[in-house]
Order: sequence, then C-alpha cells, then structure tokens
Amino acid sequence: SQTRLWGGRFGGGPSPAMAALSKSTHFDWALAPFDLAGSRAHARVLHRAGLLADAELEQMLGALRELSDEVEAGTFTAIESDEDVHEALERGLTEKLGALGGKLRAGRSRNDQIATDLRLYLRHHVRALAGELSALEYAIVGLAERYADIAAPGMTHLQHAQPVLFAHQLLAHAHSFARDVDRLRDWDKRTAVSPYGSGALAGSSLPLDPDAVAAELGFDRATDNSIDGVSDRDFAAEFCFVAALIGVHLSRLGEEVVLWTSTEFGWARLDDAWATGSSIMPQKKNPDIAELARGKSGRFVGNLTGLLTMLKGLPLAYDRDLQEDKEPVFDSLSQLLLLLPAVTGMMATLTLRPEVLEAAAPQGFALATDVAEWLVRQGVPFRSAHEISGEMVAFCEQAGLELDELDDAQLAGIDERLTPDVRTVLSVRGALAARKARGGTAPERVAEQLTSLAESARQH
Ligand code: ARG
Repeated sequence: SQTRLWGGRFGGGPSPAMAALSKSTHFDWALAPFDLAGSRAHARVLHRAGLLADAELEQMLGALRELSDEVEAGTFTAIESDEDVHEALERGLTEKLGALGGKLRAGRSRNDQIATDLRLYLRHHVRALAGELSALEYAIVGLAERYADIAAPGMTHLQHAQPVLFAHQLLAHAHSFARDVDRLRDWDKRTAVSPYGSGALAGSSLPLDPDAVAAELGFDRATDNSIDGVSDRDFAAEFCFVAALIGVHLSRLGEEVVLWTSTEFGWARLDDAWATGSSIMPQKKNPDIAELARGKSGRFVGNLTGLLTMLKGLPLAYDRDLQEDKEPVFDSLSQLLLLLPAVTGMMATLTLRPEVLEAAAPQGFALATDVAEWLVRQGVPFRSAHEISGEMVAFCEQAGLELDELDDAQLAGIDERLTPDVRTVLSVRGALAARKARGGTAPERVAEQLTSLAESARQH
C-alpha cells in the first residue's frame, strides 16, 4: 500500500497474520505526541541542512501542528493498515502535504525514532510518578506527625522485639519512598541522551545535527554511538527495576496496613472512603488498597524480568524483538500511577488507636534488652547479662508476671546483680528516650526525621 514505509521491493502487501503480529498501534499510540515533537525538531534540522526550503519548512511545521491538535482531540487516529505510530503519523502528514510529507523521512529511521520516543515518553511521565511518590511520602510524614509520641511494639520475625515510637516505624517507610524519588532522578540523568540521528544504526550521510535535535527535545546531549543509540534499552530496564522496587515498597507497607487493621492487631482503622465492604458479610471492612498494593508488586517484577529476558540474547543493533519493550514499561508506569494516589489516600486518612498501641508496646517482655544493657552498664559482661535477663523472662513467664511486677526478693532470687535499681529501665518511655544516637527511636531523633522528610517531600 502507499502509506507503508517500506513497500518498494515487495510484490504485495503482508499476509493478514503477518500484519496482525507486526502491528503495535494499539499500544504505541501513547508515543504519538513525542513522535510529533521529534518530527518538528527533525524538520528544522533538515531545513538547516538545506534539504527543506523555507516555505517547505513552514508548510511542514504547520501540518505537524495541525496533526498534533488532531491527535490530541482524538480526530486523527491509527487505521487498520497502519503498522505502528510512526507509519500512522507519516500517513497523516502525507495526507496533508502530498509528496512534501515524504521529505521528512530523510535521515531518520523508525529505529532511532522509537528509541527517542520512548525516552521522551518516560522522562515526561516519570516526573508525574516522582510527584505521586512525594505525595505518599508527605502523607506518611503527616500521619507520623499526628501520632508523634505514640509508642508501639517494634517487631522482628513479626514477634514483639523492642518498643519503638510508631512514628519511627512509619518514617522507615517514608525513607524508602524518598530513596525511590532519588532513584528516578538519577535514572533521568542517564536517560537524557538523544538517539535521534542514529538512523537505522550507522548515522546518516546527510548533514544533520543530532545535538540540535537533542537540545530541542530537552535532552542533555546526543548519543556518541549510533549502534548503541538504536539498541540501548537500559533506560527501559532501569525504569522497570525502579518501578519494581517501588512496587515492593508499596507491598511491604500494604502488608503492614493489613496487619495493623486486623482485629488481632487492632492498631489502626481505615477510613470508609478508602476501604471496601463484603457482598455477603455486612460487618466487613476490607483493606483492599493495601492488598492490591501487595498484589500488584508481582506484575512489576514480572515486567522487569520479562523485559530483561527479551533483551538478553539480542545482537546489536536493532531487532524487532525490541518492539516488546513497550508494554511492560507502559504497564509498570500506568499501574503505579493508578496505585499511588490510592495508597496515599489510605495513609492520609488512617486513624491509629493510641491506647491499643501503647498497651501493646511493652508486651512480650519487650524491655528484656534494656535489662541486659542496664546490667552491662553495671559492669556485667553482655553474655552474662543476656543470660540473667533471659532467666528473668523465664521466671515471669512461669509466674504469669510482667518484668516490672517482680519484687526485690524475686529479683535478687534470680540473680544478686538484679538490684531494685533495675526498675529504672523498665519503662517504655525510658527505653525510647535512651535510644538517642543517630538512627535511634528517641523522640528527638524522630522529630528530626519528621522535619527532614517533610522538607524532602516538599522539594520534589
Ligand atoms: N514499531 C517498532 C518498535 O516498536 C519500531 C519500528 C522499527 N521497525 C523496523 N522494522 N525496523 O520497535
């Protein structure tokens, strides 16, 4: 057909099964605005190279502008015979300009176009993604601020370990999302390289200016190697990795929210607008957002492994396999943009139950480490201190007592070094305040984190 970009040496059109397999317009249409931006930059470069007359450039830019408007309005769309977004847009241009439309193909290939388009698309949408992550970080910081002085059981192995400020636990999640925002910024530095001008793989014999195109499209520079330019998909794989890690962070947070809102924990309540009910059990209030966050992490990891596996055996330069890069990238991006506002809303509206958290904080002999460390401060070697504190726990378990309920005689009976003074460390507040080195759960360290994380979320 006339609109096909490669008809010349072929006797006829492709078989229907070939065309159906080849087709990508149903997903690569998302790249249309970026492809058109590339076309505008390319037209200017052709003009400067003397390959488009002044009037031709004007006509070309006018038609590209019209086409952009029509794409945006949805009045220009791909048709059945279009193989991909590049072919469809060139058909649109040729419909407007006739033979002049065909001049734009000079010096470029769909291979450098697609590599450029995908970078442009991702750099654009990743900014929105970073914004959503910062909003989540901000919501978590806000929750931590509202409950800044509530103690909670800190867990290892999901067993009571040592008391912590619940804000400290919440902020641990905020730190991971802050790192994700950093990762996205760092990713952008490596992605800000333009493949335009690489052509099919070897560059162009026409006097084009890849640096000018790069600058016009907002890239830092053009690629140094045209073969790398058309075959490098590191930016796509790296994006899928960061997306997978964000997904894992959301999943771990989701799992905790599922636990916290269970009847057994009873630490938190979900707001009605951010929970769902059951079609049969009238009493139910389910943490579906948290569960979908946990559940979707699987597909983010799948998108990453699928993409890496597709890439691993490819000889340089372009291979059609690379067309398979887009759906995993698009899926990871769109799923995160769907998930993040919901998780943010859930966290922003979560209500804690301070009385339950406070009561649970010392349970499970969570101050046993403090006893051992008190003994260390009395000069007892930690190995012995650990033993003595362990015997104290065993005694209490037997007697059905808490550590702070032992009387002087019981303490001395366990070990003579357990003087009544040990009770000074048998309080949750004391245990929290004592952990005041950098990174510890002491209230002043947590207050510092609140300030710095709120600041970083605001800056992004
Ligand atoms: N649609 C292709 C892709 O997504 C780009 C076109 C390159 N096609 C080609 N036959 N060289 O990767």
